[in-house]
Amino acid sequence: MLPRLSLFDFVRAIVRILSARPRVPPAVQGNRLLETILRRRSIRSFSRREIPDEVFAAILEAGRLAPSTVNLQTWAFAVFTAQSWKAFFGRSIPFNGQRAVIVLGDAHWNRTIAEMFADSPLVSYTVAVINASLAAMSMSLAAEALGVSSVMLSETGRTGFLDAGYLKEKLALPDGVFPLMTIVFGYARGPYPPMPPKLPLEQICFTGLYRGVTPAVAEDWLKQMIAGYKAAYPLSSFERQLQIYRMKIDRAERDLTAMVFHRR
Ligand SMILES: Cc1cc2nc3c(=O)[nH]c(=O)nc-3n(C[C@H](O)[C@H](O)[C@H](O)COP(=O)(O)O)c2cc1C
Repeated sequence: MLPRLSLFDFVRAIVRILSARPRVPPAVQGNRLLETILRRRSIRSFSRREIPDEVFAAILEAGRLAPSTVNLQTWAFAVFTAQSWKAFFGRSIPFNGQRAVIVLGDAHWNRTIAEMFADSPLVSYTVAVINASLAAMSMSLAAEALGVSSVMLSETGRTGFLDAGYLKEKLALPDGVFPLMTIVFGYARGPYPPMPPKLPLEQICFTGLYRGVTPAVAEDWLKQMIAGYKAAYPLSSFERQLQIYRMKIDRAERDLTAMVFHRR
């Protein structure tokens, strides 16, 4: 059960969200790449403007050249236009996106030539997740640099990480290939939303012994999440969203256990 917010809590949380800005020391202000990284937001509303092929090719290239453990490149990208997505899945790309990439952790392709991490399903899976996620982030940032916005999705109705079982069948994934996230790309319709509540640097950095986030800051973050969600989606709530996730997570847990450990 999440806490109920008083009106004061709600207003305070919204003011905190609206006034939050990236903290950039004056000495490094104006760096274009840094600005691109800090400007990126998850965008959930796209215009009908198409993404040119060359622009999308450059985005994919950023994924291809991402770093990976032992340069194993444990990833594969299922790439779609709005049309090919509709033809394949029978529905539109979420949020009216113009391109989508289902990012897959791929511990299969290199097994076809040599067994790199024999009998280590959890390590193989984790390595694939780490590497493919880095490729995903590279693609999102390359997109942002080219004026294309994006959002990564676990839950898309049918085509995200939480539907791993469905996607395994639909994309005919062999053992060792796991759907991780769907990145939806497009030109943003309207201005970027405010930055969702991010933890302060002092709370997530430490030297020496682990410290962790203090309970008061954690509570403050939760209140901002609840208030921010209500402000963005007045007919829903953060709690309701978590409930939807929870149902899907139970099924995803079973699907992934079967996929990673071959255990039902
Ligand atoms: C792996 C991953 C999965 C995500 N899945 C979803 C999703 O299913 N639905 C959604 O609306 N946003 C999703 N997001 C976006 C997050 O909600 C978003 O990154 C977070 O709220 C922080 O906002 P920001 O990206 O604007 O900094 C996902 C992000 C990541 C990295």
